[in-house]
Formats: sequence, C-alpha cells, structure tokens
Amino acid sequence: MIGSETLAETIASATLIVNEWDDVDVAHSIIPNGWEYLGSGAYRHAFRGPDGFVYKVQVDPGDESNDESFEIGKMILDKLIDSDDFKIAKFDLFTDCNVFVQEYVDGEIIAAHDARTVCSKIYRFVSDLFLDIHPGNLRMVNGTPVIFDW
Ligand SMILES: Nc1ncnc2c1ncn2[C@@H]1O[C@H](COP(=O)(O)OP(=O)(O)O)[C@@H](O)[C@H]1O
Ligand SMILES: [Mg+2]
Repeated sequence: MIGSETLAETIASATLIVNEWDDVDVAHSIIPNGWEYLGSGAYRHAFRGPDGFVYKVQVDPGDESNDESFEIGKMILDKLIDSDDFKIAKFDLFTDCNVFVQEYVDGEIIAAHDARTVCSKIYRFVSDLFLDIHPGNLRMVNGTPVIFDW
C-alpha cells in the first residue's frame, strides 16, 4: 500500500462539504494545510498530500470512477510486463473512504507535436481496454510517458 489511510480520510472529509467544484477558488479554499490542489478531470479532483502522494476524490461521490480506475489499472499492469513504451504510476485504493492514491508523477507535459505518436503507441498496446489516454493524463519522465489516469 502506498500513501496513508489517515491522510486519505482527511481529504475525503475536507472535500465532502464541497458540492460546487466548477470554481477553482472554492477548491483552493477548502484544502487543509500542507495539501496542494493539483487539478480536476471529469471524474476526480486530485490533491497532493503532505507526504507527497496524490489523493483523488470523486467529483460525483455516487459514481464508480475510483473503483474502475483501480480495476483497469490492474489490467494494464498485467499487460505491461514486456512494454517499454510507457509506464503507469503506482496506485492503490482506500476502499473505506473511497480515495484513490497514487505516486506523484514529476514530469513534463507532452509537447503537442508528440502527443499523437505517444498516445497511439499506448493505445496499440492496450487496445482491448477502454482507455482515456490523452496528454492531460500523462507526463514525460526521462523521455518515457508515465500515465496517471486511464
Ligand atoms: N499522479 C499524478 N501526478 C501528477 N499530477 C496528477 C496525478 N494525478 C492527477 N494529476 C493532476 O490532476 C488532474 C486530474 O486528475 P485525473 O486523474 O486526470 O482526474 P480524472 O479522472 O477526473 O480525469 C490531472 O489532469 C493532473 O493535472
Ligand atoms: Mg484525467
């Protein structure tokens, strides 16, 4: 297990009170001391905890995006054994508070002109999975794309 269950519970209860996430100022205003708001996608809000790990809470507490992310992540890992084309950020799920935890990917946003080549390589490798591979879901680390959402 990576991350801390206590920190997962902290961010889960801090974000529970927020139901209007369109306003980034609101997101900033509720984060506890020592936490950083990283951003939001369609399904999750991502925060960096004081321990350096990323904690994701669902935008809609009622959907299954964290569960799905965990299950699909494991399927990708099963297929990744012999690929150098990309890496996947380590992840886990705190099921009691439903917080997805992940290693922070400290990399560069992919250059626009490389996006198609890189993303299609990843797609080819996992073409039987329904994946959400796009430049907003990966960073380049020493020339290798590392995906943190799929
Ligand atoms: N492991 C990570 N390392 C660095 N930044 C991250 C990580 N996970 C998420 N982020 C940031 O948070 C944003 C939202 O997270 P993401 O997992 O893509 O949510 P969603 O499932 O809603 O698309 C990302 O676009 C990215 O900017
Ligand atoms: Mg995303």
